[in-house]
Amino acid sequence: SSTEVEQKDDHFEELFQRLQPKKPVAGGLVANYQGVWFYAELLQATLTFQKHFKAIDSDIILATMAKSGTTWLKALTFSIVNRNNHSVDKSPLLFSNPHYLVPFLELYLYKDGNIPDIDSMPCPRILAAHLPYQFLPSSILDCSNCRIIYLCRNPLDVFTSVLQFFLQNGHISSPSMSIDVPFEEFCQGIHAYGPFWDHCLGYWDASLKNPQKVLFLKYEDLKKDINSSVKKMADFLGYPFSAEEEEAGLVEEIATLCSFENLKNLNCNKEGEIQTVFRAKHNSFFRKGEVGDWVNLVPPSMANRLEKLMQEKFGESGLTL
Ligand code: A3P
Repeated sequence: SSTEVEQKDDHFEELFQRLQPKKPVAGGLVANYQGVWFYAELLQATLTFQKHFKAIDSDIILATMAKSGTTWLKALTFSIVNRNNHSVDKSPLLFSNPHYLVPFLELYLYKDGNIPDIDSMPCPRILAAHLPYQFLPSSILDCSNCRIIYLCRNPLDVFTSVLQFFLQNGHISSPSMSIDVPFEEFCQGIHAYGPFWDHCLGYWDASLKNPQKVLFLKYEDLKKDINSSVKKMADFLGYPFSAEEEEAGLVEEIATLCSFENLKNLNCNKEGEIQTVFRAKHNSFFRKGEVGDWVNLVPPSMANRLEKLMQEKFGESGLTL
């Protein structure tokens, strides 16, 4: 009811005001909530999501830090899971940006205090979140068969991709701006959903403890060998490719359908925009799709600093990016 929404909003505004510290960063003001940095609207959506979302066993949750390849992961998972519902040449991906087929939980479905009717979504529901592992509602973590795929990416490429995304969508203004300030913030972990290293480590540890539940993938590995990655995802999700399917070339077909070149050039991704907690042009999700593009933005000395910092933060975890 509207009273419920009002009460929730009151509570939320009070909470955000109380949070300390707050920092102005590219894209707005962020506050630290339980060790993680949030824009106000994002925190509101996160709290609504945590309170109202109930996972079921068949759910598939795609988790990423923003700009780590979420759009690609969504397209691939959607295609793997729905391959018996429609052939690749009739895929809904040809007509719809992946972010509508696999919606974000906190960023889209639960934005503005909205409580969506996700019980009416067809199963398996494929849903996405940028939230750190410990922010996922306990029903996701407790449903024994509900699976999580986490995709991470080299932090220098993530940093570069975020800045270009902000620029492309007008969230920051000057194309000639200095990267010093945002880079410093990134190194201090002060950016939406940051710190970056805690985000990765949360899912890394969970994947080591419970590999049936959390599959940990790297963008760079997908770029290196997409066919093996598609098969690995399908096995993990309980949708393995049969020998006949493999022989018929279905793995390659899905990889090609979801490739950067293919998706980028579809009208549904060239035009239009999506209104999540933020506004984003569909084409801003398809920029270069390369490994190592950071060299065009970040000078070697800064890159060195972030690489050392990551080594320090990842420590003995076994994770390298
Ligand atoms: P770049 O900005 O480096 O090009 P997200 O989907 O998490 O927002 O991440 C966006 C990044 O993934 C962008 O990186 C984008 O170009 C890249 N990307 C989008 N679709 C892709 C695809 N099908 N294959 C590879 N990379 C893709």
